Amino acid sequence: MQCSSNKIEKQFLDTENKGPVRLNKYLSEAGVCSRREADKLIAAGQVTVDGVRAETGMKVEPWQVVRIGKKQVSRQEEMIVLAVNKPRGIVCTEERRERDSIVRFLNYPVRITYVGRLDKDTEGLLLITDDGQLAHQLLSPKKHVDKTYFAVTEGKVVPEDIEKIRLGVDIGDEKPTLPGKLEILRTWEENVERKNVEGESGAVIANSNAAGHKADPEGSIWCSEILLTIHEGRFHQVKRMMEAVGKKVIYLKRISMGPLILPENLAKGQARELTEEELAA
Ligand code: URA
Repeated sequence: MQCSSNKIEKQFLDTENKGPVRLNKYLSEAGVCSRREADKLIAAGQVTVDGVRAETGMKVEPWQVVRIGKKQVSRQEEMIVLAVNKPRGIVCTEERRERDSIVRFLNYPVRITYVGRLDKDTEGLLLITDDGQLAHQLLSPKKHVDKTYFAVTEGKVVPEDIEKIRLGVDIGDEKPTLPGKLEILRTWEENVERKNVEGESGAVIANSNAAGHKADPEGSIWCSEILLTIHEGRFHQVKRMMEAVGKKVIYLKRISMGPLILPENLAKGQARELTEEELAA
């Protein structure tokens, strides 16, 4: 990461800094001009908030985009970079109106974006920043930042799968994936309670475990715990790579991005600033 020279803003969830402020105050605190001058600029129609002409006396939320002419005004002098342990059910979108959006979940007092999206049902390490350029830099496919995932699959992962993943797999895109590193941590057979779900004819049509996964005729399901390291960030990439070797991902958690490892003491749903060492890595 190229952000060692930046200090981290210390305002996270500081209630004093939450909430709307008068636009003229916002502009003067950004060091752009005095409040009186700000009022003049607003009256002259030179200020926009989220692309709409501002009005005298209006208030702005800290995450709104304020511009004088084409130039964006920012009250932030220091870059924010946070590590978040994203829980299941939260959506990676900047859309605050979305009830389960990551930005609404974090309720951070300034506009933020995420680095490297995770699916709604994926947990784990997500980077959050207010620096769109940093996000872009880190996300750039050319960077090939390693991302490691812990996953549970339905279906037994076998050594041949390691080799297939090592060579790259066809996941239905134009090109096969870059080589990935697959490690099998554990494999087990889950005995499934016979449910004897009966069709109209009275014949048994399905056996399933508690999660509703179909069992084989003997009534068992093989599962594996794996680590998969990939170098790209394609849509549903881990799920599709495992699907390409015939396994279904039923649990997924990102545990590292480049040199950054999901902090052990970062509980699900919590966020913390990166340390200087982490930023310098
Ligand atoms: N790969 C996936 O399939 N899902 C994620 O959320 C991240 C990587």
